[in-house]
Amino acid sequence: MPRAEDVQSMFNRISGRYDLMNRVMTLGIDKRWRNAAVRAARIDPSTRALDVCCGTGDITFLLAEAGAEHVIGADFSEGMLDQARKRQKGHRDPAARTRVEFLQGDALRLPFDDNSFDAITVSFGVRNVEDIPLAFREFARVGRPGARIVCLEITRPKSKVANGFYDVWFDRVVPALGAVISRDRAAYTYLPESTKTFPRPPKLREIMQAAGIGDVSWKMYGGGIVALHSGVLPLSPAPEAPRATEQRDEVAGPA
Ligand SMILES: C[S@@+](CC[C@H](N)C(=O)[O-])C[C@H]1O[C@@H](n2cnc3c(N)ncnc32)[C@H](O)[C@@H]1O
Repeated sequence: MPRAEDVQSMFNRISGRYDLMNRVMTLGIDKRWRNAAVRAARIDPSTRALDVCCGTGDITFLLAEAGAEHVIGADFSEGMLDQARKRQKGHRDPAARTRVEFLQGDALRLPFDDNSFDAITVSFGVRNVEDIPLAFREFARVGRPGARIVCLEITRPKSKVANGFYDVWFDRVVPALGAVISRDRAAYTYLPESTKTFPRPPKLREIMQAAGIGDVSWKMYGGGIVALHSGVLPLSPAPEAPRATEQRDEVAGPA
């Protein structure tokens, strides 16, 4: 795991081409995964939502468009936040322009009081932090009782065929695309590498449960390369033993 400063400066460097690279790298299918993450956050008109490691704001804007009362996007890269704020100014949806705020903040020391949010999302972000269990403890700290905690992340698929595709795509195609589109092969070599050590879904569920998040379940997307975990903070201090189920595998189709 590289040092946080290196991750931060890498995202500052690639921020200008990050969105384009994402669309090319995922062939646009990521939009579908992001919409699923926002549905899992169960937004209603009174929801105060936090999108941690928000980057250029894809999920942050979707949370506002889904009807949240207020959404904060937090990230430690000023470069990524600059891109998010630029997008916000020209955003076609008034909710994204008026109900979203972007703040600099570290996922491991969130600059918010306890019990501040009804929904907390993190997409393609938590694999980059130095201490994943601590990040989930922070999400649990700033969430209110009953808050939804949602994590969208790349993971290594189970099937041999999908694994073969994953290796070729992430080890060869993504670094080559990164060199051309982002002019930063190193960043797009690190990003795939970081997915390989990320905990598999059952382990991630354990980490979330250990942080005090209940009712954790997950769904797979993209033929098993993306896992969407969601859970809820208990309403009472003594929650039931958490239960988890893998509901179904969903193979990605066109976005
Ligand atoms: C791969 S990008 C994902 C951005 C966005 N959530 C998305 O789905 O496109 C990872 C983001 O996590 C941020 N990040 C990594 N470690 C962080 C930390 N410890 N605290 C806050 N942000 C962090 C990076 O700056 C970057 O913007």
